[in-house]
Amino acid sequence: MKVLVTAASRHGSTEEMAREIAAILDKAGLPTVVASPDEVQDLAEYDAVVLGSAIYLGRWLDPAKAFAARFATEFERVPLWAFSSGPIGDPPRPFGAPPEVVAILEPLNVREHHIFSGEVDRGELGLGEKLLTRATGLAEGDYRQWAEIGAWAAGIAETLRKDLGWRHEGAAEREAALKEWWEAQLHQSTAAG
Ligand SMILES: Cc1cc2nc3c(=O)[nH]c(=O)nc-3n(C[C@H](O)[C@H](O)[C@H](O)COP(=O)(O)O)c2cc1C
Repeated sequence: MKVLVTAASRHGSTEEMAREIAAILDKAGLPTVVASPDEVQDLAEYDAVVLGSAIYLGRWLDPAKAFAARFATEFERVPLWAFSSGPIGDPPRPFGAPPEVVAILEPLNVREHHIFSGEVDRGELGLGEKLLTRATGLAEGDYRQWAEIGAWAAGIAETLRKDLGWRHEGAAEREAALKEWWEAQLHQSTAAG
């Protein structure tokens, strides 16, 4: 049983979010792999996928779009969660899912699409991006809400465990220990009887 977390990121902040989501899934006992969307050849070894992308000018980045197109038919078997990172400021702007992202996710049987606030670090931007942020009045700063990201990932873990019958690793160990104890008890009482 394995989860894939994959996200398209231009300046790294969405990738950090993907790593945090993966760490939380792992901690919840679900073995999780992080890979960039371009690296993934097939989904045969995965039982669930979390796909993310930064939003630029109302669009997902190409590697995330290509991933969605490449594996579109697999998401009947493999449950898919999606996230976008983008809105900046307090309150976060722009608001709501861009139509192009909605159109990409609509046919994919996605369990949930969550939009998280992102990060704009002006020092990291290229000249064109700097001009665009100025022209569109996009704020600067790190608005990523780690507690919200963590809670979302914990919700995915919970769903995978409950709905899809995945067991927490600790639970499996406890179950095995209990079984061993019962067997020992049984053995003792048979030997005694
Ligand atoms: C030029 C530019 C355009 C952007 N356009 C959008 C947008 O249309 N919608 C949005 O929500 N965020 C937008 N953002 C914010 C980014 O999505 C946000 O900074 C994101 O967290 C960047 O992720 P990355 O570091 O993984 O590339 C834009 C940022 C820049 C620099």
